[in-house]
Amino acid sequence: DHTHADTLRTPIVAVLGHVDHGKTSLLDTIRGSAVSEGEAGAITQHIGATDIPLDTISGMAGELIDPSDFDLPGLLFIDTPGHHSFSTLRARGGALADIAVLVVDVNDGFQPQTEEAIDILRRTGTPFVVAANKVDTTPGWNPQDGEPIQRSMEAQSERAKSMLDENLYEIIGQLSDAGFSADLYWRVQDFQKNIGVVPLSALTAEGVPDLLTVLMGLSQRFMKEEMAIDVRGPGEGTVLEVKDERGFGATVDTVVYDGVIRNGDQIVVGGQNEPIVTEVRALLRPRPLAEIRTEKEFEKVGEIGAAAGVKIAAPDLDQAMAGAPVRVVRDRTVDEVIEEVKAELAEIEVDTAENGVVVKADTLGSLEAMANALREAEVPILRAEVGDIAPRDIAVAETANQDEHKAILGFNVDLLQNAESDLENADVKLFKNEVIYQLVEDYERYVEEKQR
Ligand code: GTP
Ligand code: MG
Repeated sequence: DHTHADTLRTPIVAVLGHVDHGKTSLLDTIRGSAVSEGEAGAITQHIGATDIPLDTISGMAGELIDPSDFDLPGLLFIDTPGHHSFSTLRARGGALADIAVLVVDVNDGFQPQTEEAIDILRRTGTPFVVAANKVDTTPGWNPQDGEPIQRSMEAQSERAKSMLDENLYEIIGQLSDAGFSADLYWRVQDFQKNIGVVPLSALTAEGVPDLLTVLMGLSQRFMKEEMAIDVRGPGEGTVLEVKDERGFGATVDTVVYDGVIRNGDQIVVGGQNEPIVTEVRALLRPRPLAEIRTEKEFEKVGEIGAAAGVKIAAPDLDQAMAGAPVRVVRDRTVDEVIEEVKAELAEIEVDTAENGVVVKADTLGSLEAMANALREAEVPILRAEVGDIAPRDIAVAETANQDEHKAILGFNVDLLQNAESDLENADVKLFKNEVIYQLVEDYERYVEEKQR
């Protein structure tokens, strides 16, 4: 049914999992490029979006996919660094991702960030598959580059096969402990009831055809209705990152999940203090199959439709917030759209108290996750904001009544240079970490020691 192809948008697939379990490598393999080689310490510093057209997917999946069975245009993959809270990927109060790939190192099994990701997937009700990665590291493995996993498994010794099986059943057991009934994907009849586990290797690409097939099948079968959007409607998106770009000033890397954004459109963007009303000066798109974070040469486009990653250049974006909504005004009134953006921001609730610590985080989603973690730990918050640590934050922290509250907890943020001397001269303790629970633990330990 080809009439659908114009009106169904690309499903958004978030790739998440513990640090080093192979998210970026898996996307590299799918993308056929080696983005991770250009990364500092092979750690992905930012979230990126990569559009993989159906043609490419069916090419990779080979015999497993018949492209004429599908009318979705492809898949839009979003990479998340392991230390980055997946909750950043929010949209209209829910999850930005339609589906997710949870990458688990087949030898390591579940790790802290795997658990963190599972919690968020459960809370947002996001369907997901598990990529049991690095099967090639099984002792005695006989690699079958790019082959479907069952064919590859037939080529292994009994010993290698049983070692892999053991690891896979360990992961299936861990999923069950987390409340998800799971099995190897070819044994799953109903992907709405059971989580499919796909054994694969990002290094040798064996099992990657299977993953792509399962993802296409999942989105085709269960999400087709949600993928039917008004492609000409006013664009809606989520800011992934605010970035200075030479010649453009502050720009916002955005995932558009509904409608269309055109050059010259008036837009409203969630800002640090209030919604920003501005006009699109340029829409910059990475080339197909390129990575939005590393591609230097952007292509200027007249319009961009969902789902896609796009860099928006417009005046006054320097106060924009990662995780915040972007809305095209089009044939509505600006006030109407401002109210919409405000209402969405108000959903991200952070309860503040008269006494408490100062919290800074890189995105709205991670701020929300920090607030949740601190609430559970019964640590009150005086002020919570998105952004780097500024002199103002130190001044606020200093006003705390209790010594233990004279503290700033920073998640994925830096101490601004002009705040360094303030911090030295103030009686304020700074905690920084890239793992939320560690940040909270560090603070709790500090309070304990102080009370001794
Ligand atoms: P973060 O972005 O830091 O969270 O890590 P990541 O999950 O993106 O992991 P990445 O893809 O950077 O891979 C981490 C390391 O594992 C790298 O050295 C990869 O080469 C290696 N690796 C990833 N996948 C495989 C695989 O299938 N087999 C083998 N042998 N090594 C792999
Ligand atoms: Mg990575």
